[in-house]
Amino acid sequence: MKATITTTAHYVPEKVLTNIEIAKLVDTSDEWIRSRTGIAQRHIVAENEATSDMCTEVAKQLLEKRDLSPNDIDIIIVGTVTPDHFTPSTAAIIQDNIGAANAWGFDLSAACSGFIFGLETGAKFIESGTYQHIMVIGADTMTSILDFTDRETCVLFGDGAGGVILEPSQSGGGILDSILHTDGSGGTSLWVPAGGSRHPATIDTINEHSHYIKQDGKRVFKFAVKGMADVTQQILKNNNLTGEKIKLFIPHQANKRIIDATAKRCGISNDKVLINIEWYGNTTAGTIPIGLSEAVEKGELIDGDFLLLASFGAGFTWGSILIKWESHL
Ligand code: ACO
Repeated sequence: MKATITTTAHYVPEKVLTNIEIAKLVDTSDEWIRSRTGIAQRHIVAENEATSDMCTEVAKQLLEKRDLSPNDIDIIIVGTVTPDHFTPSTAAIIQDNIGAANAWGFDLSAACSGFIFGLETGAKFIESGTYQHIMVIGADTMTSILDFTDRETCVLFGDGAGGVILEPSQSGGGILDSILHTDGSGGTSLWVPAGGSRHPATIDTINEHSHYIKQDGKRVFKFAVKGMADVTQQILKNNNLTGEKIKLFIPHQANKRIIDATAKRCGISNDKVLINIEWYGNTTAGTIPIGLSEAVEKGELIDGDFLLLASFGAGFTWGSILIKWESHL
């Protein structure tokens, strides 16, 4: 039995932060950010808005679109590195917010690969035959860990959430294959040094800004292109496919130059590559489900289309998932 995506939804906060506004906070420019990253603006949460609020919006849309009762949901999986709290999990907060009385759930930490890792996890629960409806949501409030005095990171990210409902496929399509990787030796190339159990938050860690995200941008760039391209080429090869056979490629949106280089290496032409980084920046676990939800809204996928997802993120984590699309309108 295969798992299939029956429903998609996304939510981004109303408030927009443009490059021009960011250039008033740090020494940067609209031209630098656009040319080096492809980003023009990002959405950011309101003062009282957190990751679970964005996820709850997504979860409500998913239920409504699929005409399901909250009681129909078996599991809620949330990929995020910016939960509301260390505990309880974001999944538990969503469960309560939507009244999913029969659901259990958990958060999954894989940074930008959070949605892909969650999708693979959810698919295995469907394939086991035990569960019928699983919500998989990728969401991050990156502004909660951004240092708005560090121009090398603060220009890159935004806030947002997207999600899907997974169900058993009736016709044999759905999630066909996946390849996932973790390489912890890349850990300190992209990380939040303090605030966890290694260096609990103190006045010093706060003064040092070490509770914010730090990165070695050039190293991440290099590994991201290689990681996403290798895994995408491998999944195509394993399934006797070429880039030409793919209808839509949705790569993680970290940098337009990373996306272009990855697609080129995989022989996937530009018209098949979903790029929305211009409007949202890098929403970490949110990028792929937001892109997928937008593509579905625009009617870009029909029955039988091959859809390819690929991610790379902190950890390092990376992976690719191949889907034979099934329309459930
Ligand atoms: N505005 C203006 N100048 C800047 C900025 C900025 N926001 N940031 C860096 N610069 C400067 C640097 O200080 C440097 O100046 P120097 O030459 O005087 O030393 C110059 O611009 C060039 O810096 P580079 O690091 O060479 O710029 P590069 O072209 O590599 O782009 C970037 C930097 C955008 C961070 C790129 O390396 C990148 O995207 N890396 C991937 C990082 C990433 O995406 N992380 C997100 C999470 S991981 C993921 O999602 C895959």
